[in-house]
Amino acid sequence: MQIWAIANQKGGVGKTTTSLCLARGLAVMGHRVLLMDLDPHASLTRAFGIPADPAPAGTHDVFSNTSVELTTLSRQTEIDGLLMVAAQPALATLERRGATQPGLGLSLSRALHTAQDHYDYALLDCPPTLGLLMVNALAAADRLIVPTQTDPLAMHGLTDMLRTADMVERSRRRPLPRHILPTLYDRRTRAGVNTLDQLHERFRGVVWPKAVPMDTRLRDAMALTTATAPTGRGADAYHSALNWLLNAIPAQQKAA
Ligand SMILES: Nc1ncnc2c1ncn2[C@@H]1O[C@H](COP(=O)(O)OP(=O)(O)O)[C@@H](O)[C@H]1O
Ligand SMILES: [Mg+2]
Repeated sequence: MQIWAIANQKGGVGKTTTSLCLARGLAVMGHRVLLMDLDPHASLTRAFGIPADPAPAGTHDVFSNTSVELTTLSRQTEIDGLLMVAAQPALATLERRGATQPGLGLSLSRALHTAQDHYDYALLDCPPTLGLLMVNALAAADRLIVPTQTDPLAMHGLTDMLRTADMVERSRRRPLPRHILPTLYDRRTRAGVNTLDQLHERFRGVVWPKAVPMDTRLRDAMALTTATAPTGRGADAYHSALNWLLNAIPAQQKAA
C-alpha cells in the first residue's frame, strides 16, 4: 500500500479538493483506495454528505482505541473502489491530549500498517495546522503532496510545510519524497502568473509543471457533495496531475 499525505500549513489552498480528486482518479483506474479525513473541520466528510451530528465513526477512533481496525471505520462511497474514513469534531481536542500521551504520534502509522493488505493507496487529507494529526500523517506517509495556491502569500505556507517535512524526515530516518501541485490558478492575474513562474523555477523537478486552474465546477462539486462528479478543466487537470505523480514514483514502489 502507498500512503500519500496531502498537506500544507495554510488553509484554503485546495488540500481537500486535491485529496478527493486524486483518490477518485486512483479508484477509477481500478485501485482500492482509502481516503481519510484528518481535519477537524471535516470538509471532506461533508463533501461525501456525511453529517457531523451524530458524530460518525471515524479518524478519531484510531487515536482513542488502539486496537480499532481501519476496515471497520471505513465506509463505501458512491465511487467504486473508494472507501472513506470520516472526521469527527472530537479530533480538535486531540492536539491537547497529544502533549501528555507519548506514542500517539505513530497511532495512524500502526492502524495503516494493519490495514495494508486491504488497500492499494491511502490518501490522508490533513488539517492546516502543525499538530499531532499532521505529524501522524507525515510519519506514516510514503509521499507528501503539497497543494499550493498560485498566490504570492501562499509561498510562505509552502516554505513552512517543506521545513516541517525536513524535520519529520530527520526524525523518522526515512526519506519523505514531496511533490508540489500548483492550484487555484488564475492566468488572468499577474500575481497568479508570476507565482506559478516562481514555483516552477525554484522547485524544478518537485513541482508539477502545470497548474490546476480556477474552475467553479470543482467548487460546486465539493459543495454539492459527490453526486455531481466534477467534469471540466479542473477535473481534467487533476487527471493529468495524477498521471504525473504516478510517473514520479519509482516502479517498484507503485501499488499493485
Ligand atoms: N481549482 C479550483 N477552482 C475553484 N475552486 C476551488 C478549486 N480548488 C478548490 N476550490 C475551492 O476553494 C475552497 C478551498 O479548497 P479546499 O480544497 O477546501 O482547500 P483546503 O482543504 O486546503 O482548505 C473550497 O471552497 C473549494 O471548493
Ligand atoms: Mg481541507
